[in-house]
Amino acid sequence: MSLKLGLIGHPIGHSLSPWIHAKFIDLAGLNGEYKLYEGDHEKLPSVIQHLKNASIDGFNITVPYKQVIVDYLDELDKDAEILGAVNTVVNENGKWKGYSTDGEGYVRSLVEPYPDLLHPGTSVLLLGAGGAARGIYRAIVQKGVKTVDIANRSLDKAEALLPLNDGSSSSRVMSFLEAEQHLHEYDLIIQTTSVGMKPNIEEQIIRLDNLLESTVVSDIVYQPITTRLLKDAKDRGAKIHHGHSMLLYQGQLAFEKWTGKNLEVSHLVDELEQKLRGE
Ligand code: ATR
Repeated sequence: MSLKLGLIGHPIGHSLSPWIHAKFIDLAGLNGEYKLYEGDHEKLPSVIQHLKNASIDGFNITVPYKQVIVDYLDELDKDAEILGAVNTVVNENGKWKGYSTDGEGYVRSLVEPYPDLLHPGTSVLLLGAGGAARGIYRAIVQKGVKTVDIANRSLDKAEALLPLNDGSSSSRVMSFLEAEQHLHEYDLIIQTTSVGMKPNIEEQIIRLDNLLESTVVSDIVYQPITTRLLKDAKDRGAKIHHGHSMLLYQGQLAFEKWTGKNLEVSHLVDELEQKLRGE
């Protein structure tokens, strides 16, 4: 049997998912393909019809279709329904079911290098409140940590994340200035906005003067691999977590849903870094 997988989105020409899933198909000892289906909004219904006719086993879906794809699904996983976004579709006996692997993939990428980080005493600060923050916020809260506070430029957008909390953690909304003043209270700080992304590599979302060395600073931006925020954190003696590993573990979770195979992928983190550096 040859596995049929792919990615729908626009633009996706530079996506690393084909590289990642080709590695996974190899590691799993399977045959198959992971194709890119790029198209603007008018093309989406015909792309979907093509994938139905081809009996695709599963696919990822990215910007700008993470919400509209719901109209084409037979079933929706509970978390995807609550988040209002799908990034992975699984063909389950002819029925298409939508999942969101962003948040859980992020958590997997984090606990791989820091297995003891998330526990009932952990305090987390989330920077940003956009689409990426939503999935990460819900997944971290579901780990039953003590606190997940949210700092964002516009406070109303941060408030909009609070209904995603199932009550497992306490959450406060604050400005970046307030976050800077309280930085020493957190075990983990997660940067989820595009601030610091190429070409704006000199940008840094908050000052780290009050950072403790024991804190882990994580940035989901992976171009550059080491953002200015991560470099600053490292220079202050704190621990860091790079964004590119999230790509790998989101893929790992999607691949698990498509094939039932839970692959060991940690050795690919460095390979992916080299690929991103163009080596
Ligand atoms: P994504 O889906 O990639 O998360 P998004 O939904 O547009 O993108 O969310 C972008 C996030 O980055 C938001 O939290 C946004 O802050 P606002 O809610 O105040 O708009 C944040 N963001 C983007 N550019 C920013 C900047 N220059 N400074 C601070 N925050 C910024």
